[in-house]
Amino acid sequence: MAEAKTEKNLRSTRSSGVRMLDLTKEFQVPGSKDKTVAVNHIDLKIENGEMMTLLGPSGCGKTTTLRMISGFETPTGGEIFIGNRSVEQIPPNKRDISMVFQSYALFPHLTIFENVAYGLKVKKLPREEILTRTRDVMELMQLTTMENRFPNQLSGGQQQRVALARAVVIEPSVLLFDEPLSNLDAKLREYMRDELRALQKQWLLPACM
Ligand SMILES: Nc1ncnc2c1ncn2[C@@H]1O[C@H](COP(=O)(O)OP(=O)(O)OP(=O)(O)O)[C@@H](O)[C@H]1O
Ligand SMILES: [Mg+2]
Repeated sequence: MAEAKTEKNLRSTRSSGVRMLDLTKEFQVPGSKDKTVAVNHIDLKIENGEMMTLLGPSGCGKTTTLRMISGFETPTGGEIFIGNRSVEQIPPNKRDISMVFQSYALFPHLTIFENVAYGLKVKKLPREEILTRTRDVMELMQLTTMENRFPNQLSGGQQQRVALARAVVIEPSVLLFDEPLSNLDAKLREYMRDELRALQKQWLLPACM
């Protein structure tokens, strides 16, 4: 636990927000010479501890913006900084970002416990720490009784909470959520929003949803 605290303190002094400068993404329309402008020259800064919400109609570029921050999509113009570093050359797995996808993207062949613990295993943390951190986050997300089930044995809202748990358990430098509460009923949505906000404030992370 002491180790985890030190890691957190280091992180809060290390990361200093996300900045997008003149960020643009154009997609080629399949089978034509036309282009769709998905993200149109945006300038945006998300400070540590700040929760930014992108609000707009379907197709206005919310997912594309998040995918560019996380590195799954390459901008056609402009630049993204995490802290003081331009991330253009940094692949998604090296950006220390967790993203919860609109479609959850859970691993179907892994149990709920293994899904949540996945990022900690990749980091090769000690077994005991993986167990404690995974169980703590699962309790927070009200998933404790579902450890040994597989994703297709869960409701939509339960799967969404697994995706949230998997994202926060690694305590990343930046949290990105693509409509993370859309499948939850009103009461659970409020609870999850408060829990996510509390975690993100405690860790002083920039977050965008
Ligand atoms: N891979 C792609 N190839 C071509 N066009 C794309 C691609 N991905 C997204 N687009 C287009 O870019 C625009 C922005 O899409 P995006 O998914 O970012 O919207 P969104 O704001 O997340 O919408 P929603 O609220 O429906 O999730 C849309 O017009 C979409 O059709
Ligand atoms: Mg979207």
